[in-house]
Amino acid sequence: MLIHTVNEVREAVNSWKKENLTVGLVPTMGALHEGHLSLIKKAKETCDRVVVSDFVNPIQFGPSEDFDKYPRTLNEDMKLCDNEGVDIVFAPSADEMYQKGQRLSNDTLTYVCPPFFYVNTLCGKSRVGHFDGVCTVVLKLFNIVQPDYAFFGQKDAQQVIIIKKMVNDLNVPVKIIQCPIVREASGLALSSRNKYLSEDGKKDALVLSKILKNIKSCYDKGVTDVAALKETAYGFLNDKHDMEYLEIVDRDNLENKIKADDNSIALIALRVENVRLIDNIYLKD
Ligand code: PAF
Repeated sequence: MLIHTVNEVREAVNSWKKENLTVGLVPTMGALHEGHLSLIKKAKETCDRVVVSDFVNPIQFGPSEDFDKYPRTLNEDMKLCDNEGVDIVFAPSADEMYQKGQRLSNDTLTYVCPPFFYVNTLCGKSRVGHFDGVCTVVLKLFNIVQPDYAFFGQKDAQQVIIIKKMVNDLNVPVKIIQCPIVREASGLALSSRNKYLSEDGKKDALVLSKILKNIKSCYDKGVTDVAALKETAYGFLNDKHDMEYLEIVDRDNLENKIKADDNSIALIALRVENVRLIDNIYLKD
């Protein structure tokens, strides 16, 4: 069922809660692919009822980012959700989420601001304000849907860590379930932004997973020095790759490491054909 308003979702969820049914939320910005479907499948396995939100959230995009051109494919998304047995697709307008006429800035709107230490690193360094926008919309979705469980992909590792931190710090009664990255057979991590890449670009984009896999295999062979592990990336890069960051940090709290250990995660962001791509790998599964 497609629903556009907060009141209608609340009504449906309230009726489920009266029957003691558990509710799962899969927050998305639409343009659904197999990665999202894996979250939906996990939600279906875990919960009695599943809501997928489909909303391109304006307040998590910077002024020079791709908000206007971000793929919007609600009809296709609906079909995929129907096939998976999703109970509600919640696709609000920006006016429904943020009140018509309201200026979307933090001098007029209440924002959730995650801790500086968690945002002033990795993606947050170049995407200033991004995680404020993400946490604000995710907390709003939690308040609207009141899910027992919410499902996020490890692909956006920093996002999940920050959302878990928000849920913990603000005592939000929801259990966050993180699901593994889904990859093409080539190794490329699925992303709605892969749609921007040409066929050649997709080949060049394999560098992300190659670098990460190589770091993991060096770690498996006993290399723990973070600088040495990061150094191994340079053999894979050429002028088609515009590196933004490659870091090895703690997978729970994003703390920098000098020596990698079994709780480390390697994360990378780089541009291919001016498309910003991210990927990551746990050094120990
Ligand atoms: O990961 C995403 O697609 C978005 O950041 C999210 C969590 C749906 C919030 O808009």
